[in-house]
Amino acid sequence: MLNFAIETVQQAGHILMEKFGRITVMKKGDINLVTEADLASESHIIERIRSYYPKHSILAEESGEAVVKGGDTSWKWIIDPLDGTTNYAHGYPCFCVTIALEHDGEIVLGVTFDPTRDELFAAERGRGATLNGKPIRVSSTEKLGDSLIVTGFPYDFKQKPNFARHLNEFLFHSRGVRRDGSAAIDMAYVACGRFDGFWEEGLNPWDVAAGTLLIEEAGGVVSYYDGSKYSIYSPPIVASNGGIHSQMLDVLK
Ligand code: IPD
Ligand code: CA
Ligand code: CA
Repeated sequence: MLNFAIETVQQAGHILMEKFGRITVMKKGDINLVTEADLASESHIIERIRSYYPKHSILAEESGEAVVKGGDTSWKWIIDPLDGTTNYAHGYPCFCVTIALEHDGEIVLGVTFDPTRDELFAAERGRGATLNGKPIRVSSTEKLGDSLIVTGFPYDFKQKPNFARHLNEFLFHSRGVRRDGSAAIDMAYVACGRFDGFWEEGLNPWDVAAGTLLIEEAGGVVSYYDGSKYSIYSPPIVASNGGIHSQMLDVLK
């Protein structure tokens, strides 16, 4: 299954690269975009799942939830065919394809592929996380003041008054805060130690499903702002290398 998932995100990533710089942009909301690349990538991923695992359920960003009649609902593929659509639409090369597999309510496999750098992040529950086949670990940073933190600005940030306060606090208490526009890449970078921590409000399951497993399998921690156990089905999220987690929770109180 891991090889299937890896081949699938790589193929979908190549579809994105073929269309990069020559696409039509459509609006889903005021600032939320969808392109023909999102749709082509998602169709390809769904076609492959349907031919290899016809009984599995699917939760995909653009087409929603699909359960097969007489199928096996204990397996669910969670798909973001293009994470970083706004970047993609503006020609900013920071985007990826990310998919995860849930079994009996637990994420067991996650892959995130950045086709612009040819970087493939993969994790299987209990078997660790890798970048292009090599094991990865979270950073060993212990102090928030020595940390590089990443976040995303929710599309509806105007309805999230705490967001600006949290951003301000992290700016004052960390070495720097980045905002790159792809939650799945942000989380993959926490898993491999490029970032020390990540927080964001208002994400969807497909944004974070693979990233949570990547971070946990790389030795990090994912939780709610009060430190309790996180579910991909309800935001907000805070994730870190573990060493700075309680300091991040203090900021997010
Ligand atoms: C978005 C990205 C972004 C995050 C947004 C997401 P999309 O996903 O992950 O980093 O801040 O909240 O919706 O729309 O590019 O797939
Ligand atoms: Ca997304
Ligand atoms: Ca998307």
